[in-house]
Amino acid sequence: MKPVKIGMLGLGTVGCGTVNVLARNGQEITRRAGREIKIVQACARDLSKIRPCSMEGIQLVSDPHQVVRNPEIEVIVELIGGYELARTLVLEAIANGKHVVTANKALIAIYGNEIFALAQKKKVMVAFEAAVAGGIPIIKSVREGLAGNRIEWLAGIINGTSNYILTQMRDKGADFSDALKEAQRLGFAEADPAYDVEGIDATHKLAILAAIAFGIPLKCEQAYTEGITKITRMDVQYAEKLGYRLKLLGIARRTNGGVELRVHPTLIPERRLIANVDGAMNAVLVKGDAVGPTLFYGAGAGAEPTASAIVADLVDVVRTLTVDPNSRVPHLAFQPDALVDMPILPIEEVETSYYLRLHAIDRPGVLADVTRILADLGISIESILQKEPNVGEVAVPVIILTQRVKEKNMNEAIARIEKLDSIKDRVARIRLEHLNCEWV
Ligand code: NDP
Ligand code: HSE
Repeated sequence: MKPVKIGMLGLGTVGCGTVNVLARNGQEITRRAGREIKIVQACARDLSKIRPCSMEGIQLVSDPHQVVRNPEIEVIVELIGGYELARTLVLEAIANGKHVVTANKALIAIYGNEIFALAQKKKVMVAFEAAVAGGIPIIKSVREGLAGNRIEWLAGIINGTSNYILTQMRDKGADFSDALKEAQRLGFAEADPAYDVEGIDATHKLAILAAIAFGIPLKCEQAYTEGITKITRMDVQYAEKLGYRLKLLGIARRTNGGVELRVHPTLIPERRLIANVDGAMNAVLVKGDAVGPTLFYGAGAGAEPTASAIVADLVDVVRTLTVDPNSRVPHLAFQPDALVDMPILPIEEVETSYYLRLHAIDRPGVLADVTRILADLGISIESILQKEPNVGEVAVPVIILTQRVKEKNMNEAIARIEKLDSIKDRVARIRLEHLNCEWV
């Protein structure tokens, strides 16, 4: 049988990883796919750049439109990244009848509904396993492996760069900006690393996971997003002493009032497996009603782990080239006409536990004032810890762990506590999740 011809848009970290994996494992991949998968053309901005992959048999061009218009090519692999150019190229490729494989979570999260609608019309596949959690086959697992379940919630460490920074800060006392520079050097970070550290990349991935878990359209713009830039080493250390680890978590959960869709720094009990996922590794905890809790772990970024997912998608596309388009696995796991438009809960309506850190003047009655405010707003305290004052300071750090409460009540409590004369500085707040199996 003739090889399936592939066109690559982008030959950077993931592009070169993909070329290398296809070259090294070519025979195994052909045995799996049933046909040889051959990259014939690729584009990049700088044609003179020395790349860490062999360009043998690949025509390198600088105009990406040349690749999506090449009549020989059946499948386009989009690895340029970003929004607008990627969207234009992918829509053009689909319009030209080509299947698409992409690692671009920003593209899928923002323009996925439009892209899938056109793909459905043109009867082509758009595969995006690499877009979430790098090398972990989480899309396939949720979409196909857990298809018998009603998925109740999922929670994941889905940004390798943030997890790498938090781990370096905790284990090596590294400075935030040094750890970020190292993540960039290792090829994990986005072209604009603000996407990583401000939680935007994790929100893109969470929106994709929620869509395939609950059968809802992509609703990235309604998610709550908070990154790791305001985290202090002091809070990480206090939380550790209380038995918690700090992670940037993406959480999607069905509730009676709607779907929670939120990305924020989260304290997790250190005994949970997911609390021990370090470095650029990712993990996604998925709770289905039949299977119970499942945990998927692996490399969330990097050239070859991401290429592993790209090549798996290529094999899937090649295997199903001749299948009736109506019998293929739907892009968002549920049949397109069966997607349900569930509301996304505003963050004020979300219930979670909290870690609070206050700076209180060390005199009688201060804690009583604080606990009265919390009680008035229906907030139960789990534990209180008063630290020694720092040398030369009259205020002492007080750490309070609360039980679950609606965010709007906590906002009100914090506002009232900050007005007390005895409280110095702003109150630091970190959400805390126990992630136990009963959490439905
Ligand atoms: P890189 O920046 O390393 O590579 C981007 C590639 O696109 C480069 O080869 C660049 O050319 C090329 N390119 C950019 N703009 C143009 C243009 N206008 N015309 C032609 N070529 C262009 O990115 P990554 O490989 O790291 O990421 C690619 C995608 O994969 C992104 O969507 C990213 O979010 C996603 N991803 C990345 C992961 C990772 O670990 N890096 C993991 C999972 C997903 P040149 O080389 O000449 O600059
Ligand atoms: N910048 C992303 C991360 C790459 O750090 O997780 C993988 O999607």
